[in-house]
Amino acid sequence: MSGALPQKHHGGMTIVFTPDSLDLLGIDYVEFYVSNARQTAHFYRTTLGLLPVAYAGLETGLRDRASYVLERRNVRFVLTAPLTPDHPIGAHIARHGDGVHDIALRVRDATAAYAAAMSNGATSVQAPTISTDANGRVVKASIATYGETIHSFIEREGYTGPFMPGFQHLAERAPAPETGLTVIDHIVGNVELGAMDRWVGFYRDVLGFKQLVHFDDQDISTEYSALMSKVMQNGNGTLKFPLNEPASGRKKSQIAEYLEYYGGPGVQHLALSTDDICATVDALRAAGIPFISAPSSYYDDLEQRVGSIDESRQALQARSILVDRDEEGYLLQIFSQPMQDRPTLFIEIIQRKGSQSFGKGNFKALFEAIEREQAKRGNL
Ligand code: FE2
Repeated sequence: MSGALPQKHHGGMTIVFTPDSLDLLGIDYVEFYVSNARQTAHFYRTTLGLLPVAYAGLETGLRDRASYVLERRNVRFVLTAPLTPDHPIGAHIARHGDGVHDIALRVRDATAAYAAAMSNGATSVQAPTISTDANGRVVKASIATYGETIHSFIEREGYTGPFMPGFQHLAERAPAPETGLTVIDHIVGNVELGAMDRWVGFYRDVLGFKQLVHFDDQDISTEYSALMSKVMQNGNGTLKFPLNEPASGRKKSQIAEYLEYYGGPGVQHLALSTDDICATVDALRAAGIPFISAPSSYYDDLEQRVGSIDESRQALQARSILVDRDEEGYLLQIFSQPMQDRPTLFIEIIQRKGSQSFGKGNFKALFEAIEREQAKRGNL
């Protein structure tokens, strides 16, 4: 991000303002639909070190669901569970398991962003809705994306309360580890077989994104599985949404496995940034996050593949951290095991050292490692 761009600070979130067709400023929050928000909040607090800051539920007058808001620096999760039988959120969980429902985007004017998206061909989920309390006003509007996932536009200029009207501060200050996570780097969606072009078109035509990179299934294939991946990015680079589509291989691809267990398209992984990946991985492992291990052969020719890097090979190999280099620099990354029982959502930890890509050179080594896990689940 350029230092020349004006910045504003709201509730610990730093937003860089720059011209963009829908004026999309960054990710405001990611909302998960889960079966038990209280316990999921405990999990993400004690593992990722996200701090519970706000709550809405029966005690605040919300009768049908409970939501916990967790934050650390520029990472914000909202965890929402239904409180009543036959609730639509319950149907979402029955179909998908716990997963991401809303990738909410920060805008200056939610009504204008929604109107622009609708005139560009978006499907409406919620027309602009204003909520107010003594702390100011928040405007929210939502459109549909892949599967049952949505994008909300969030306008919160000058709002000084905890998260949104209807939420109250969480007074409890339960301990959380310092894991060094700074911001959500990118969010990857898995889409249906044959639907890649449709969703590339959605992000291009409806939200004004550009396609950044194109891997085809020759790039990313192993003996068994293959996929196609395209990266969509907004004009100021604050939103990076890669999309994966399954491609045919000898056996079931990891994308096909995801689609089967999620019951359709959805968010495959959230990549979270750190400035010190070794310290972050150590903290997450100590907190119980299981990571995909890299084969020791991966490190045999590391220097030949990526050239000289600041980190020692021993430090990376001991932690199964992967490295990839492009023209601009390199990146370090590692992938967790699934965050829930179903082999669906997982977390990536990423540290960028110049590179703005996504670890293409690691895909083959990574996928071979993922397939070993898939085989253990009887799904390869
Ligand atoms: Fe990623």
